[in-house]
Amino acid sequence: MERKNQHYSSQFPDVRVKVFTVPVSLCRHLYLFKTITGIFSYKKLDLGTKVFIEHMTIPKKGGNLLDLGCGYGAIGIVLAYLSPQSSVYLIDTNKRALWCTKENIRYNLSERSGKVIVLHGSYFKPLHDKNIKFDAIYMNPPLRNGRKEFLALCKDIPSFLKRNGQFQFVIKKKMGANYIYNYLIQNLSDLYENISVTFKRSGYWIFSLVSI
Ligand SMILES: C[S@@+](CC[C@H](N)C(=O)[O-])C[C@H]1O[C@@H](n2cnc3c(N)ncnc32)[C@H](O)[C@@H]1O
Repeated sequence: MERKNQHYSSQFPDVRVKVFTVPVSLCRHLYLFKTITGIFSYKKLDLGTKVFIEHMTIPKKGGNLLDLGCGYGAIGIVLAYLSPQSSVYLIDTNKRALWCTKENIRYNLSERSGKVIVLHGSYFKPLHDKNIKFDAIYMNPPLRNGRKEFLALCKDIPSFLKRNGQFQFVIKKKMGANYIYNYLIQNLSDLYENISVTFKRSGYWIFSLVSI
C-alpha cells in the first residue's frame, strides 16, 4: 500500500512502482517523458514547470547550465535541446527521478544534445569535486522542504554563478511568491545586482536574480 506521507524529495521513495509516459509540447517541440510513481508530478507536467520552461531565458552563447532539483528532467532536457552548444547539468536527490531523467535524455535528445551530465545528491554537494561555475541555474524549487531551506539556498547560489550569471526559478503565488520577493529584496540585494519577477501567468511567478 502507498504511504501517504512519502514525498517526492525522498532518496528512495517507498511507493509501488508504476511507469507513465507524459507527452508534452514545449517551445514548439514534442517531448515524451517517462515518469514513475514516487517522483514530482508524475501524471503530467506540472503547470508551474510548463509556464517556467516557456518563459525561461537561455544565454545566447550557451555555457554551463544547471537544472537544480531536476525531477524527471523536463527543464534540463529542454535547455539541452534548445542550446546544444551548452553543458547541461541535472541534479536531484530522488534516485527514481534520476532513473527517469536518464531514460528521458536518451529518448528525447539522442544526438541533438551536447554535454549532458546527471548527478545524484543534495543541491551543490555533487559538484564539490568539480571546479565549476554556471552561466544560469534553473529551478522549480521543492517548497515542500520548507521556504526557509529555499531562502538559504538563494544565499548559496551566487557562489556557483559566474559574474552576471542568472538564477531563474518559478514560485506559485499561493506558495508565498510575494513573501519571497520581498525577502530577497530586503535581505539579498547585496548578493545580486538585480532581483526581479519577469513573468506572471496562471498563478505562477517567474523570478530572475542576476549575480554581481
Ligand atoms: C518541485 S520538484 C521539481 C521537479 C522538476 N524540476 C520539475 O519541474 O518537474 C522539486 C525537485 O527537487 C528535488 N529535491 C528536493 N530536495 C532536493 C535537494 N536537497 N537537492 C536536490 N534536489 C532536491 C525533488 O526530488 C524534486 O524532484
